[in-house]
Amino acid sequence: MIKDLVIKSRSYRRFYQETAIELETMRELVDLARLSPAAGNVQPLKYILACDPQRNALIFPHLAWAGYLKDWPGPDEGERPSAYIIILGDREVSRSIDCDHGIAAQSILLGATEMGLGGCIIGSIQRRGLQKALDIPSRFEILLVLALGKPRERVVIETVGTTGDIKYWRSSDDIHHVPKRPLDEVIIG
Ligand SMILES: Cc1cc2nc3c(=O)[nH]c(=O)nc-3n(C[C@H](O)[C@H](O)[C@H](O)COP(=O)(O)O)c2cc1C
Repeated sequence: MIKDLVIKSRSYRRFYQETAIELETMRELVDLARLSPAAGNVQPLKYILACDPQRNALIFPHLAWAGYLKDWPGPDEGERPSAYIIILGDREVSRSIDCDHGIAAQSILLGATEMGLGGCIIGSIQRRGLQKALDIPSRFEILLVLALGKPRERVVIETVGTTGDIKYWRSSDDIHHVPKRPLDEVIIG
């Protein structure tokens, strides 16, 4: 079952934008992150939730989408995320954040998948611009943005071929293909 969930939990970048996500749903997702492992159990992560069109519109321009899809600038109006969770590091709790935000992000995405939603971790963020747009105090460092919504695209996993190319790609039938390295390549001993 966990394998089914992990396989289903792909990076989705096109959504039914009009399908709203309730604030309570977003809070449930952050609760999964809150209950996840934290280095030294220090728990320096904080979250900003956005699930209304006005706030979403402030966030979207600061994100970069699918770097390997050179001809695709990102989701069009109508297929953009209906919600975002911004993961922040609270510098007053800890100066250095380990890999807590990655774990938190995966907990949230697995939870979203179980709810029939989907999303994408965005690390390529114009941080200064987003900090200003949302008036985020400087004690909070923007670590990741999670884009969320009801997925509007098909994503399939395949095995990395003999060329070793790991770049995801989109076929003419609009399916997003994600090559994964084979198990025997990643287990080295
Ligand atoms: C730390 C991290 C940062 C990422 N940043 C971006 C990003 O800025 N923009 C984007 O479109 N996808 C981003 N992704 C999504 C990856 O491109 C995606 O995970 C990868 O292509 C594999 O696809 P999959 O998640 O469906 O397995 C990021 C993923 C991770 C884990």
